[in-house]
Amino acid sequence: MGVMRIGHINVRVLDMDAAVHHYENVLGLLRADQDEDGNIYLRGWDEWDKYSVILTPSDRAGMVHIAYKVESDADLDTLRQRIADYGVEVDELEPGALRDCGRSLRFHLPSGHLMYLYAEKTFVGKAVASTNPDPWPDGLKGAGVHWLDHALLMCELDPEKGVNKVAEATRFMEEVLDFKLTEQVLAGPDGDVQVATWLARSSTPHDIAFVGGPRMGLHHFAFFLDEWSDVLKSADVMAKNTVKIDVGPTRHGITRGATIYFFDPSGNRNETFCGLGYLAQPDMPVITWTEDQIGRGIFYHTGELNEAFTTVYTDGV
Ligand SMILES: [Fe+2]
Repeated sequence: MGVMRIGHINVRVLDMDAAVHHYENVLGLLRADQDEDGNIYLRGWDEWDKYSVILTPSDRAGMVHIAYKVESDADLDTLRQRIADYGVEVDELEPGALRDCGRSLRFHLPSGHLMYLYAEKTFVGKAVASTNPDPWPDGLKGAGVHWLDHALLMCELDPEKGVNKVAEATRFMEEVLDFKLTEQVLAGPDGDVQVATWLARSSTPHDIAFVGGPRMGLHHFAFFLDEWSDVLKSADVMAKNTVKIDVGPTRHGITRGATIYFFDPSGNRNETFCGLGYLAQPDMPVITWTEDQIGRGIFYHTGELNEAFTTVYTDGV
């Protein structure tokens, strides 16, 4: 089957104590582990593998790498060959190179972002039972997010120079990793420049997204909530903790998600959102947004795109 879903994201943080407070008490992630280098590992209560977020102490914010889980160990051999045949350098790493994971593949997307693929990660189970479970566990903190859902990566885009890393990364994800393009924004004088894309391997509207900007980077990574009232509550939790909110509760036209954007104490943008949007079946037609409606696509109610949303983001390497 190949890639199943997002596995984890590794981000750098400036102040680990502040970051841990944010991810544990505001988002409600559960502490999974800590290693000898000071990295902290966390997961959502509805996840069954050991971790989905790695916080790395650093003097600058941004993403170290993003990892996706494939269905079987043999998929790694198939995908290693396909990645290499595409002309992308790929390394195979020993089990444990990614903590608590089996062997992994490491390579850079055409956009420059570092990606890993792995098939195995230590299983710990959800915070609710696998047999006759409760709908949610007791003792959840903050927003009580369910799981890490997706990430949006910024890609260098300069049509005048003929640079479009959005299109390059998208083509790689489609042709090599078999992602399905669910939505795209087409811009330019002829309406044929792919400036933003949303792609899925699962049946959700996106497992990864790419948006064009002046430099590559990390735009946000997002956590799933059940419903609109949970998104409102997550905004309340942010206010109680004086979290810097980027965009208050609203709805995306693209993916239909009801959402709130905010920043962790290091400046990495997070999102909590609810609603699975729609089922991205393999034969669903691609949804295209035109340049004149991009504001409505991003923020459906106002139809206005605040400039900071596409210009403020952290590093991608
Ligand atoms: Fe998102």
